[in-house]
Amino acid sequence: MVGGLTMGEWASVGPIEGRPELAAVLIGDREIAVARLEGGSWAAFDNSCTHEECPLAEGDLEGERIICYCHGSEFDVRTGAVLEGPAEDALPVYPVRIENGELEVEVP
Ligand code: FES
Repeated sequence: MVGGLTMGEWASVGPIEGRPELAAVLIGDREIAVARLEGGSWAAFDNSCTHEECPLAEGDLEGERIICYCHGSEFDVRTGAVLEGPAEDALPVYPVRIENGELEVEVP
């Protein structure tokens, strides 16, 4: 369900099949970027860079690293850790799972 989410709810973002490697989705009022990693696993994280809010889904995904196109900050998409500034704050990340061929993201 999208909208009116309660704590820790799993929200489907659609089928795995045909999903782009990196794209933003709207869950409730959050924009979340969903990325397919090497080996076929998935990661979900805030689409908004913690530096100056550029959309990370427009950036480059290199392995488990998302690189913001605005000023080059780099984050680990699994942990949200800052790997390279100028961003100082970690990126919020969200658990993902696959249910019946659909990708689901747990949002707080
Ligand atoms: S907005 Fe992402 S590095 Fe500045």
